[in-house]
Amino acid sequence: MPISSSILESIIREAGALAMSHFKDLKKLEVIKKSPRDLVTDADVAVEAFLQAALASRYPQFGFWGEESGQSANQTSRWIVDPIDGTHSFSRGQYFWAISVALEIDQELIFGAVYAPALDDYYAAEKGKGAWKNGERINVSTESNLADAMIATGFACLRAYLKDNNLERFCRIAEITTGQRRFGSAAIDLCLVADGQVDAFWEQELNLYDVAAGALIALEAGATVTDFQGKLGIFPKQILATNGKIFDELLLLM
Ligand code: IPD
Ligand code: CA
Ligand code: CA
Repeated sequence: MPISSSILESIIREAGALAMSHFKDLKKLEVIKKSPRDLVTDADVAVEAFLQAALASRYPQFGFWGEESGQSANQTSRWIVDPIDGTHSFSRGQYFWAISVALEIDQELIFGAVYAPALDDYYAAEKGKGAWKNGERINVSTESNLADAMIATGFACLRAYLKDNNLERFCRIAEITTGQRRFGSAAIDLCLVADGQVDAFWEQELNLYDVAAGALIALEAGATVTDFQGKLGIFPKQILATNGKIFDELLLLM
């Protein structure tokens, strides 16, 4: 492993402290609309700038792709960063938002971390070495009955322009499951599948920076990650992560 998970944790926790300094003074937060339902704040930009500088200083060999600043030259080995996933929640003083950092080398995700500072939860995984939450090993749930399951989903910011906006799918699945949640951060949603807090998560029209770290954490915790047709892999435009035990039944409803 060409990186140190403890050094990365300290960099990401420092980014979390920066995000919290903005979170604790929301009256001063500058909020800009990137599109009718997609927000960015000065906190997003500041956290991404901090992470890009800190990661470049410690690991100059890797490129960088951040949601707000775009892609650097080296994209074969790159950090994939969402500085604040759940910006809308962040801007309203809610706790479900997270910093998402993944490392991809030659198109293979080898490290992912999702840090939710307001919840004080740090999730991380290295490929082939399992998934962890605050230093404890985590695994997906054992729920095998879809009728008893709790599911989570999200509604893409651009849903107004989508023929399939997930609302019919959500109602179809909500009718037969016990619990439904919309937490507001895809990165956290995927970690909650990894931690067995929810049994499945799906969403459309995301970007790789929303899901890269969370999907690796879910996979390393034993999740099945596919598109809506059941093809194995991480597909940000159609991502479905389950505990594997309700996968077949849920796939029929996607
Ligand atoms: C958003 C969150 C949300 C999802 C949106 C994403 P952002 O990320 O992940 O849960 O439903 O589609 O855009 O914009 O807050 O980084
Ligand atoms: Ca995001
Ligand atoms: Ca974001």
